[in-house]
Amino acid sequence: MRDGTALATSVWLPKSGSSFPTLLVRTPYGSEMMSIFAPPSPNIFRLMREGYAVVIQECRGTFKSDGIFVPHVHELDDGSDTLDWIVAQPWCDGNIGTYGSSYLGMVQWDMASTGHTALKAIAPSVAPADRYLSPWYSSGGAFSPGALVWGALMTLNKVGRELERGQGDPGAMVAMASMMLDISGLKTRVPLLDQPLLREHMPWLVDTALGHPERDAAWDSSISVESPAKIRTPALIIGGWYDLFIGETLRTYTELRLKGATADVRDGQYLVIGPWAHSMNGLLAMYPDRIFGPTATVEASGLHDAHISFFDHYLKGTSAKLDRPRVRLFVMGIDQWRDEVEWPLPDTIYTDFHLSGDGPANTASGAGTLSAGPSINEQKDSFLYDPRRPVPTLGGTGLALLEWDGAADQSPLHERDDVLVFKSEVLTEAIEVTGPVKCHLFVSSSAIDTDFTAKLVDVHPDGRAIILCDGIQRMRYRNSLTDPQFMVPGKIYEITIDMIGTANVFLPGHRVMVEISSSNFPRYDRNSNTGGVIAAEDESRMVAAVNTLHRGRQHPSRIVLPIISRT
Ligand code: BEZ
Repeated sequence: MRDGTALATSVWLPKSGSSFPTLLVRTPYGSEMMSIFAPPSPNIFRLMREGYAVVIQECRGTFKSDGIFVPHVHELDDGSDTLDWIVAQPWCDGNIGTYGSSYLGMVQWDMASTGHTALKAIAPSVAPADRYLSPWYSSGGAFSPGALVWGALMTLNKVGRELERGQGDPGAMVAMASMMLDISGLKTRVPLLDQPLLREHMPWLVDTALGHPERDAAWDSSISVESPAKIRTPALIIGGWYDLFIGETLRTYTELRLKGATADVRDGQYLVIGPWAHSMNGLLAMYPDRIFGPTATVEASGLHDAHISFFDHYLKGTSAKLDRPRVRLFVMGIDQWRDEVEWPLPDTIYTDFHLSGDGPANTASGAGTLSAGPSINEQKDSFLYDPRRPVPTLGGTGLALLEWDGAADQSPLHERDDVLVFKSEVLTEAIEVTGPVKCHLFVSSSAIDTDFTAKLVDVHPDGRAIILCDGIQRMRYRNSLTDPQFMVPGKIYEITIDMIGTANVFLPGHRVMVEISSSNFPRYDRNSNTGGVIAAEDESRMVAAVNTLHRGRQHPSRIVLPIISRT
């Protein structure tokens, strides 16, 4: 690298031939990590048979590479230096592509944003371009404690590596290991900022990730992809409906289709989304409460062929027109793959479903309904949001790592008084909801800051209430992620909760359900309701808030669903 640091790099070459289009994988998880060799990654032996060289590099400060690992910070320069090195090798024909999931995808967005001319195509799967938006925070500004578990695992690796190299302190290893024995404790501890072990061994996690809850300049230095115009490569973008990074999967695709630097870049964006979550069970699309069937696994989804045809086109220039659908989605409910010409789908009819019902909507036995227009009578639903008694996360788009995420039943939450439940009648005809989902709410609070959450749920005839997508809005960030503004207690604010999106057919016999509350913990950190530095507060500082949803003609609180009608 430019500062003399050596990164361990292995080169896999086809048996015959002298120079090859080259695929680069950069990983902080070691060059022997299973997921480099298994779907969603393409099969490395088939890649070589197809005439590709493959280069696998261990990121700075990991495994056999020198230097110190700091999440995200060195990847742009190291990636760019590696592209320079590859293109100068006799076995590279001058055309480079990249692939890999998660962190291995994030580093691809870094490389793409350098504008390196040898980089002809990237294939990031389950990976964000903007690290604030995920994994660390979210579009509504709430922190994701699951990302801290990842940070702690990386710290454990770092401390272990130091010991192997005869440096470091065995006591630190014991302390880190015992901290990792209590994964859920790591996500739920308060104050979140009180992390002496992480602070000592990987200060970035505390000083930057936890220390900068606003999307300020500290994030600019570690987030390379600020503007889609910087990206000059076609991309095969792969994601999962229950993946932590689904928001970024959809955002990168849509931004680059609309605002990519050139017509070729805009034309070169392709999207594949399965019913997958970030965890291993998620790649099988098998969750305790919902199994999506044999075609839903990453293995069965044809991702290997998708990579080959994409790279053949952009690295070998083999066919005039790339012969693959622009968008391929797994549509839940009917549990089928479907090819589409665009995301959002061109025939989407965005339809308001008003949060209605004559009477309080607290709990599933309350009066909440979904209706085509707002209720004539104004209605208020109030609930006590106590951060010491938050609504527990059940599945969804977490980073469960060692627990379950994905398509989980929400019905165990339905008797809580702090969960507002709005449900349709039992459907007599199927309704397809495929596209971006947003919730517009009119809300007030007794506090100067609090959160509002929304979930879209498919209620099956047997009572399972399966989460499809969700979102959260931290009220101080309702206007801006950089310029927090507190509320006036009692004043009504109109907010939009970004619920990202889904593809689901609600079948006859099912109900459409929307849940509104103020916490979803530990998927998101709890708002302490004080207006203080949330990560610095413990339970003794937290206060309960009375939060209110306003609905009716004056306050048309509603979810906007992307409705698709196909014969
Ligand atoms: C991952 O590679 O899975 C990952 C990386 C950073 C934060 C969270 C997850």
